[in-house]
Amino acid sequence: TIPFTTNDAGALTIGGVPATDLAQQYGTPLYVYDVERIRGAIRAYRTAFDQHNVDYAVSYAAKAFASVAMFQVAAEEQAHLDVVSGGEIATAQKAGFNMANVSFNGNNKSDDELNYALEVGLGTIIVDNDFELVRLAKLAAAKGIKQKILLRIAPAVSAHTHEYIMTGQADSKFGFDVASGQVADAIKKAEAETSLDLLGLHAHIGSQIFEIEGFVAEAEKLVELAAANHFTPRVFDVGGGFGIQYTDDDKPLASNKFIDALVAVIEKGAHANGWDTPAIWIEPGRSIVGAAGTTLYTAGSSKTIPGVRTYQTVDGGMGDNIRPALYQADYQAVVADQATAPATTTVTLAGKYCESGDILIKDAKLPAIKPGDIIALLSTGAYGYSMASLYNRNPRPAVVFAENGKSQEVIRRETWEDLTDHDLDYQG
Ligand code: LLP
Repeated sequence: TIPFTTNDAGALTIGGVPATDLAQQYGTPLYVYDVERIRGAIRAYRTAFDQHNVDYAVSYAAKAFASVAMFQVAAEEQAHLDVVSGGEIATAQKAGFNMANVSFNGNNKSDDELNYALEVGLGTIIVDNDFELVRLAKLAAAKGIKQKILLRIAPAVSAHTHEYIMTGQADSKFGFDVASGQVADAIKKAEAETSLDLLGLHAHIGSQIFEIEGFVAEAEKLVELAAANHFTPRVFDVGGGFGIQYTDDDKPLASNKFIDALVAVIEKGAHANGWDTPAIWIEPGRSIVGAAGTTLYTAGSSKTIPGVRTYQTVDGGMGDNIRPALYQADYQAVVADQATAPATTTVTLAGKYCESGDILIKDAKLPAIKPGDIIALLSTGAYGYSMASLYNRNPRPAVVFAENGKSQEVIRRETWEDLTDHDLDYQG
């Protein structure tokens, strides 16, 4: 089983608080983060970099879980932030995040989003394509700003992961294409623009990756591209994608393994080309918040089809966690007040949404469950709340942070009233 914490009674605790107490206080479904684990994940990357003599930034990829409180914790841990929308910039602003430490990714940023970024003094814009390069140069010039940028390239490296979250291959919607000379053109163009300051290159090869090889190939590609274009990089941003453990089948590497390998390649490349070693930026999302998050559900109805299976229903599902339905993602569950009890039954954990595919875990091995029991899905901290929907008009759950035996709501639960708030009567 994957790691979780319990008290003397064998009941699940999160940040030192019994999960059943959290469920009772805040209701279910409920996302709970163990804040100390978020801090620990950021510190592990920083400590890994600190073993080397390089400038670096650990930019938390906001998309994994964006909220004011999360960004505040990231700032406390000296993480930078990578955003992908005006909404994430607004959240960073509300959190009081230092905008100089924010980078902005995305393959189709609007003029409104670019102007917003320029107005708040956002540190680095990661330019994805020529259309954006030309527009950003104009918008920055109009404001009299010299904007720091990176160019995102498609490094033509495939990582072993689900097709939907693979992004580094040449046939990708993201980044400048290498083979056709787009990167060479973009470097020339960016260097010629007086309103742009080209710091370096960016790539991202995918998500939930367990092997070092893809990152090494990616870093080598960045070095090779800079050298081939007689460009002296000040920054190489290698993106995120470091894998985490959802079930026993996942064997993630310690974060320092990735960092050590990346630093080695980039130092070697800098040496070979006579550059000062560029700063190395990473953009981890999942590996910062994934394992720190748990979703608490209340068990409801169940249905046994003799000789086939038992469906055990919970009060959430695909609206708060689309990953099983979308990526066939696997999770592990525990029954909160008997987290260490041996499994005695096999049940398929199903959600409450009106779709047969709304299954959270197929054939979970658990102790016997009765209605009202709190069931915890582990490692749901990344791409859970951030991909939550209002499907079937179910309000989104609350998010709670727990640390040192204390807990606090950081996103309030939506209500039925919230859901109808934007609805207008038809006047026709
Ligand atoms: N940087 C860029 C440019 C990215 O596109 C991503 C993720 C990250 C960083 C962070 O990657 P991470 O460290 O979290 O793997 N919704 C999917 C994951 C999509 C990832 C998209 N980009 C899922 O639930 O598995």
